[in-house]
Amino acid sequence: MSKLIINAGKKGAKINREIYGNFSEHLGRCIYDGIYVGENSSIPNVRGMRTDIVQALKHIKLPVLRWPGGCFADEYHWKDGIGPKEKRKRMINTHWGGVVEDNSFGTHEFLDLCDQVGCEPYGNGKLGSGTVAEMSEWVEYMTFGGVSPMSALRKENGREEPWKVKYFGVGNENWGCGGNMRPEYYADEYRRYQTYVRNYDGNKIYKIACGACDFNYKWTEVLMNSAKLHMSGLSLHYYTITRSWDKKGSAVDFTEQDYYRTLNKALLMDELVANHSRIMDIHDPGKMVGLIVDEWGTWFDVEPGTNPGFLYQQNTMRDALVAAVTLNIFNKHCARVTMANIAQMVNVLQAVILTEGEKMILTPTYHIFDLYKEHQEADLVDSYIETSCTGTEESIVPDLHVSASQKGNSVHITLANLCAGESKKMEMEFPGKIANNVSAKILTGSIQAHNDFSNIDKVKLADFSGIARTGQTYEFTIPACSVMGITVCLQG
Ligand code: AHR
Repeated sequence: MSKLIINAGKKGAKINREIYGNFSEHLGRCIYDGIYVGENSSIPNVRGMRTDIVQALKHIKLPVLRWPGGCFADEYHWKDGIGPKEKRKRMINTHWGGVVEDNSFGTHEFLDLCDQVGCEPYGNGKLGSGTVAEMSEWVEYMTFGGVSPMSALRKENGREEPWKVKYFGVGNENWGCGGNMRPEYYADEYRRYQTYVRNYDGNKIYKIACGACDFNYKWTEVLMNSAKLHMSGLSLHYYTITRSWDKKGSAVDFTEQDYYRTLNKALLMDELVANHSRIMDIHDPGKMVGLIVDEWGTWFDVEPGTNPGFLYQQNTMRDALVAAVTLNIFNKHCARVTMANIAQMVNVLQAVILTEGEKMILTPTYHIFDLYKEHQEADLVDSYIETSCTGTEESIVPDLHVSASQKGNSVHITLANLCAGESKKMEMEFPGKIANNVSAKILTGSIQAHNDFSNIDKVKLADFSGIARTGQTYEFTIPACSVMGITVCLQG
């Protein structure tokens, strides 16, 4: 029997809804085919955005969407993606698959998508191959309502009122695809570029500097040391790669050893966030600068027969477990982690949605976002869980993983059983409180279970009614390879 204790009296920081964000890049079938099919498509759409996708994203209360990249952002000419579509320039997407990008999805379409979904836009500007003027003009185009060349251009293109754009990234992976810069050089460039990312008409931009990849603590140190006063957020990218970059392994056809190896790698997020936060704490004890994990998720070999540059992979219960532990980690670090964006939203890497023609699949990862949405804007509460070790000799992981939050009298607990084949008996208590009205949902399946286009609902959320109460103790059994969302109402 494992004990789970929820200390509802011991509150932490607020869990920003933006932790549950997504990322969408002009990569493979994420934008075209995935989100945007054009007004003339036979697939139901509103101004070109797939209605089924918009509905699905509204259902999980998607809070924020990052666009247009990724590496693509650092060579994107925003002016090619505005104005009459037939006149928009065509280009080759050199980063991703060498396909023609016709720019039919540009700034207006992205901001329309965010409006339809009801989420905040997070635009990522070009620094590596751009100019200060180009970045500055983009912000002016989107957010300035007064008299100016960019404001006039926007109006010419049919949008009278400026948009509100809350989040803006100044470059992407500038240590790599964004210019191969040294941190000292990027820090200076960041200071210069961000000067011209202006706040117009009451639109206050939350400026995000390009942060480190994985364990590059020096990058965080240099950026915090030399540019912290000029940023609201500093990013971090970390992908869960089971084996190695050149042999990542299949997304669906894997062994139990691979499963634990993947979870072991995913759990490193805790160490990474803690260590980058520690450096940030030294320079910013008041936590004015948020840690923005704007690319995270699993990265496997592409599905056989698909374009290697499109990064299309399936999504199993293993991915669901990765999402569950990662989101628990972000919740626990919510005093510093203020936003995160899974890579990527549709048809790319650890996608929440997959499409094939007019068909759409909600992946196991989607269901985790659904199960966890109750945490958005709630206060973190202290949770303690008795764990033991599971896994293989080379990849030991804890058997159970949890986070909990409270909004009003309602406490939401997300609990994962990482064991591939062993269910766990649980005893749950709320010291000093009376907990009533317990309800729960569960996502469960074998480690390789997934949805495909011939069986779209193999893995889905189900009500869980197996929680028994004795006095103030709740008992239940969580099946192997499962994630539960439990909600209780507190008194006292
Ligand atoms: O998400 C795919 C790519 O991974 C992004 O374009 C880049 O930022 C990262 O290396």
